[in-house]
Amino acid sequence: MTFIRKTLAAAAACTATLACAAPIKVGLMLPATGTYSALGQAIENGFKLYVAEQGGKIGGREIEYVKVDDESDPSKATDNVNKLIKRDHVDVIVGTVHSGVAMAMAKAAKDSGTLLIVPNAGAEAITGPMCAPNIFRSSFSNWQPGYAMGEVAAKKGYRKVVTITWKYAAGDESVAGFKEAFEKNGGQVVKELTLPFPGVEFQALLTDIAATKPDAVYSFFAGGGAVKFVKDYAAAGLNKTVPLLGAFITDGTLEAQGAAAAGVLTTLHYADGLNTPRDKAFRLAYAKTYKLQPDVYAVQGYDAAQILAIGAKATAGDLSKTAAFAAAVEKARIDSPRGPFTLSKSHNPVQDIYLRQVVGAENQAIGIASKALADPSRGCRQ
Ligand code: PHB
Repeated sequence: MTFIRKTLAAAAACTATLACAAPIKVGLMLPATGTYSALGQAIENGFKLYVAEQGGKIGGREIEYVKVDDESDPSKATDNVNKLIKRDHVDVIVGTVHSGVAMAMAKAAKDSGTLLIVPNAGAEAITGPMCAPNIFRSSFSNWQPGYAMGEVAAKKGYRKVVTITWKYAAGDESVAGFKEAFEKNGGQVVKELTLPFPGVEFQALLTDIAATKPDAVYSFFAGGGAVKFVKDYAAAGLNKTVPLLGAFITDGTLEAQGAAAAGVLTTLHYADGLNTPRDKAFRLAYAKTYKLQPDVYAVQGYDAAQILAIGAKATAGDLSKTAAFAAAVEKARIDSPRGPFTLSKSHNPVQDIYLRQVVGAENQAIGIASKALADPSRGCRQ
């Protein structure tokens, strides 16, 4: 079938039922305030860019947005997600950034059967014990970038590493992934430093690192907290003596971090300078629309919309057909700006993890740390 005939067929199938005549209600549950607010905005931008590229319609239906600011606060997460499910009766929830909030969202989605697409939060439970036919992730599991960096650090010959992160699921799991690969390859994590999310009192911990004199430091922070961490690390002079490794610590933050971030090595599923036609087209469209450069969060939002579109097309816009939606997404090759990826049976991306180095205001790709890395999805039975 030609593209036009296919589109017409989908539209005809959809208008045949009443539900399909109405717009798809998308519940965007993202942080609009706090240390992760810029991440939430980038995700929303990316999502809306893909929808705009489809002429504003997904599966033949218009899109209507309902928004909730989750404040990256797990204690409010169940109430917040239930506003979308029970009050607004959304067709699909897209969210969120923070792993603790996302776990509450996954529970509510699983209990109610509401379609959920997670455009960032890496909590392993979501594609582990809580995996479900109606839950998908367009981003990563916390294990993935951590594991990839553990291998890189061992290959670089580092033997003793100190880790530092916020004490919650994302930090714990990122460090555990790093440690698993690093220690399997002969390294040793000699100290695991933490502080409560979203704290930025790094001084005493940096003093501890200086006294411990490890070969390198592995860290997970993001957003506003990452800006301050990388600046404080440099201000303490540690960037001259102890190489800083991480995941997310330089994403969407480089302008604010300036010279403090120079040379930092990170592993992630997106990078600057990929230089593929797909990524170049995406970056140009994003820059034109938002007068901003995209980052990994924007890509994850864009790909959340792609996942929705693939499932919606297969169900002619009827998102309540969970099995057909899932079957289509499970066999899709998603044409992401990061490079094509597929979803595992647990619905987590199987994807290349790039090794990146900060040069100027860019996380430049300097290689592939781990090819087609799949999360182990421990505990997922589907
Ligand atoms: C998370 O809480 O899972 C999380 C938050 C910010 C990131 C990555 C992961 O950049």
